[in-house]
Amino acid sequence: MRPLPTKDLFLHPPRLPLIAPSILSADFARLGEECRAVLAVGADLLHVDVMDGHFAPNLSMGPAICAAARRACPDAFLDVHLMVTDPAFFLKPFAAAGADHCTLHVEAVEDPRPFADAARALGLSAGLAFNPQTPAARVLPFVEAFDLILCMSVVPGFSGQRFMPQVLAQCAAIKPHLRQDQRLEIDGGIAPDTARDARAAGCDVLVAATAIYGRPDYRAAIAALRTA
Ligand code: DX5
Ligand code: ZN
Repeated sequence: MRPLPTKDLFLHPPRLPLIAPSILSADFARLGEECRAVLAVGADLLHVDVMDGHFAPNLSMGPAICAAARRACPDAFLDVHLMVTDPAFFLKPFAAAGADHCTLHVEAVEDPRPFADAARALGLSAGLAFNPQTPAARVLPFVEAFDLILCMSVVPGFSGQRFMPQVLAQCAAIKPHLRQDQRLEIDGGIAPDTARDARAAGCDVLVAATAIYGRPDYRAAIAALRTA
């Protein structure tokens, strides 16, 4: 079992925004090194993008990769984003692989609340994501049950897509419904310019793959997002 300090990162963030590099764009051949590299220069957590080739048109990583990241970074907060058709099926395997948090998609289930309960029973926090085409109204009835709401600013599948500015209105619509201890995460096409817009719309957890792992200087890339 891991020590407690980072476990409640979303609940009690030491600073905002939290910067969450997505390891989807890391060099998988050097994954441990790539995880440690961003954490050493200012990243607050690691974002683990899980796709099942069904909910999203890509296959990315499973619990074994999460476990490898956990072994490489025993104290890191691992934020697992489940872009899968059957999120409940994957909860236990990712908890066993050392995840701190799991987010499911509202499009995948009728009622996402049992997932939040199951995640907490396993000692994880829980998030609820929604796609750019999904109205914020679909998420609002469930907001209270989650630690984090994740606004997708691209259609899930691949890194390096263009930010969809129409999601900013969705973020702004969700924000007033969140408590102080709940986070609003944004994911997809986040770079310093879009990060600024996302911050203005109320987002306080910024996920970035290309804008960090695609840059030569991770420290500068993270700093540019943090101060956007
Ligand atoms: C999208 C994933 C994102 C993605 C972000 O399918 O959920 O986390 O990897 O990549 P960038 O930051 O390159 O848009
Ligand atoms: Zn993601």
